[in-house]
Amino acid sequence: MIKVDISNVWGQLSLPDLLAIEKEVSNAHMTLTQGTGAGNDFLGWLTLPTAEETEEMRRIQAAADRIRATSDVFVVIGIGGSYLGPRAAIELMQGCNHNINKGKGDPQIFFAGNTLSTRAWNELLRLLEGKDFSVAVISKSGTTTEPAIAFRGLRWLLERRYGTSGAKKRIYAITDPCKGALRQMADEEGWESFVIPPAAGGRFSVLTPVGLLPLAVAGIDIRQVMSGAYEAMEEYNNLRSFENPVWLYAGVRNLLYRNGKAIEILESYEPGFRMFGGWWQQLFGESEGKDGKGIFPVAAEFTPDLHSLGQMIQQGERNIFETMVRFDAPDQKMTIMGDYKNLDGLNYLEGKTLDFVDEKAYLGTLAAHVDGGVPVITMDMGELNDKKLGEMFYFFELCCGVSAYILDVNPFNQPGVEFYKRNMFQLLGKPGYEA
Ligand code: PA5
Repeated sequence: MIKVDISNVWGQLSLPDLLAIEKEVSNAHMTLTQGTGAGNDFLGWLTLPTAEETEEMRRIQAAADRIRATSDVFVVIGIGGSYLGPRAAIELMQGCNHNINKGKGDPQIFFAGNTLSTRAWNELLRLLEGKDFSVAVISKSGTTTEPAIAFRGLRWLLERRYGTSGAKKRIYAITDPCKGALRQMADEEGWESFVIPPAAGGRFSVLTPVGLLPLAVAGIDIRQVMSGAYEAMEEYNNLRSFENPVWLYAGVRNLLYRNGKAIEILESYEPGFRMFGGWWQQLFGESEGKDGKGIFPVAAEFTPDLHSLGQMIQQGERNIFETMVRFDAPDQKMTIMGDYKNLDGLNYLEGKTLDFVDEKAYLGTLAAHVDGGVPVITMDMGELNDKKLGEMFYFFELCCGVSAYILDVNPFNQPGVEFYKRNMFQLLGKPGYEA
């Protein structure tokens, strides 16, 4: 179980505060699991994890094996909830440089359709030069502009390179079972396709084929991921007290918000966690930021961001709280060696491991920020493995649903996202948006 420690927030809230919010947390969790709250037609994610391997998981694995055998590169097209989860998972498990020295058998994985940058497109074309590649196009609505443009370009490229029937074997569509342009195209063109359950909203879809196909192509064991999520579903939905870390996190972040802490920084000392922070940022930002309310979620990486955001956190406006995520150190250690001249003055660390230094940096930062009036929630994830990944995804999704109901907003819509699209379509002259 993930351990949430709130011993470093007591300066900012009291036991009576915490006890007072317990009923609200309990109600929010019940509203979620009984499906009686706003947006209750989007609760499919709550019961997605399965203990057994499903037929769909077998089909995903078979597609992934085919892609791995035939492709130097796998391009995953999607944006928002159709992109952040798989990228977060792959970078957390395999590091930011996971693509180096990869090819057929264990392909490189690039993400596209998450930007309108021509430079990024040109870079992708360079990366694909002379490489065999396959494409997954992911869009729940099937109509989102950024992925649609990227897919049109990559499909053209695939068809030029492999012919129409060769390209067909290299395109995988992940979309709604019935609706949208992508569903219609997949059915008409005969591409292999997977379904995003209509009742699982984009940012809650990582444990569907949206996340599972890219993860399987990356060589991550999706049965283990699902098993971790399944155990999380069982455990975190059945413990109805503050012993449940979901309750503690959701309750405390809402209390801090009520006390004027409107910004939450989720941070880890793992560079591979940065994109996971991006996934979390979208999950909480799009779910809670509405009706003039919401905690502004910011993802940061320590220690690098201590050299950029550290000053602001330590002495800027006191409207921030932090959630620090820790993992067990890996087995393979780096030991600092001695140097007989010691010109860099590092001999005092001779024989110590990098983990040891990292731990002290963490403890030192924690003490400094708490002294500076910043409440810090700490999360001990334990060992990082495929199962833990599934647990973490389910844990944060559940925290988000509970927290948003405490805040009294509908976690499952995103009406604000449409505003920029409407303006853009009007400027682009899209039929139907002239007025
Ligand atoms: O969480 C959401 O619903 C959004 O972030 C969507 O995932 C994002 O807008 C992409 O939408 P679609 O999958 O329909 O292309």
